Amino acid sequence: MTMNKEEDAGKDVSNVVFGYTANNAQVEEENRILRETVNQLKNELTKFQKTPLLVCEIKDLQGDKALMRLPNGNEFFVNIAASCEPLTAGDSALVEQKNLTVVKKIPLSKRFTVEQFVIIEKPNISWSSIGGLAEQMTEIKEVIELPLKKPELFKAIGITPPKGILLHGPPGTGKTLLAKAVASSTKSTFIELVGSELVQKFIGEGAKLVKEVFQLARERAPSIIFIDEIDALASRRIEIGTSGEREVQRTFMQLLAEIDGFKHLGNVKVVGCTNRKDILDPAILRPGRLDRLIYVPVPNVEGRKEIFHIHAKGMATGRMNAQKLVDAMDGFSGAEVRSVCTEAGYFAIRASRHKVTQDDFVKAIEKVRQDEEASKDYLVMFG
Ligand SMILES: Nc1ncnc2c1ncn2[C@@H]1O[C@H](COP(=O)(O)OP(=O)(O)O)[C@@H](O)[C@H]1O
Ligand SMILES: [Mg+2]
Repeated sequence: MTMNKEEDAGKDVSNVVFGYTANNAQVEEENRILRETVNQLKNELTKFQKTPLLVCEIKDLQGDKALMRLPNGNEFFVNIAASCEPLTAGDSALVEQKNLTVVKKIPLSKRFTVEQFVIIEKPNISWSSIGGLAEQMTEIKEVIELPLKKPELFKAIGITPPKGILLHGPPGTGKTLLAKAVASSTKSTFIELVGSELVQKFIGEGAKLVKEVFQLARERAPSIIFIDEIDALASRRIEIGTSGEREVQRTFMQLLAEIDGFKHLGNVKVVGCTNRKDILDPAILRPGRLDRLIYVPVPNVEGRKEIFHIHAKGMATGRMNAQKLVDAMDGFSGAEVRSVCTEAGYFAIRASRHKVTQDDFVKAIEKVRQDEEASKDYLVMFG
């Protein structure tokens, strides 16, 4: 059957070709088009037959050879093709699959990757939107804001301000808020990295990303590099067994190298953040690194009152006894105080009222406390 069909098809073509003898030019044109099509298809076919090239990262160059690393982590010492553009360490390149010769440099846009993976912003958070952390604010102003704004003061006196600080304390107490506020007040670029993400998402790329983040920070200076959950990167390791741990270790080493590499009075500062200071590798806290520790506690009753006023300020409320509410929120973090305000608003909305009442707040406090206890139970059971 198939044979017959092909024969028919062949006849068709010859009919087409020979049927137009009257018009030679037309036949030639027809012929040319067919030839072109055949050539195009041949070209496509050869493309399909070629083996693909591998993408690698150039780690180091020695004479006419390169040390390169494949995405799977394997490293090879290989030749560079004569036709290849000049390379530098850190470039991305294509290598031949069989003998791994570097054949071509490729412009993998670096900026593109960093900016895709970290949060970069110019925050707009004023000091007055932070409640109950007066001491911490003063300290941050002294060690970060002042050196960025008036480096000459430090030069004149002859002291070196810290390159970075470590904010530590329970979750939801305003650590991120403090870091953003200092970025705002110094008009700095705020670059946020999350330790656990760096470890989980960028397998094999963590160290490179850290390097590029610092590069970006220098380009956009003044900058604050905020590293949330820094414990995920910088925790004390008893033994480095798995390749995953080695990878985290490499990323951490790169972070230390970057911090060591910049100047005390430069305009890049690092703010680390953790609620597990106990497991931190002391290397990160050595002098010249994040050597100023600032504890951010759960607010006391005064602090809660300030935080409550900050978040309730914009709300439509009736007559209220704020002190009573603040007393009832014993042990709440700043984030929980804010949740109380939001929840109270919802109670009013559900009751189709336009004002939030004292009772809405009381119910909201109860709800937030229950939620908190439920999450604690969860942690006990599964954490
Ligand atoms: N001291 C505070 N003053 C005002 N708001 C606070 C305070 N602490 C926490 N909040 C509220 O809780 C949210 C989460 O706080 P965040 O700064 O992310 O806590 P942390 O980084 O310490 O976990 C903030 O965006 C803010 O709305
Ligand atoms: Mg936070």
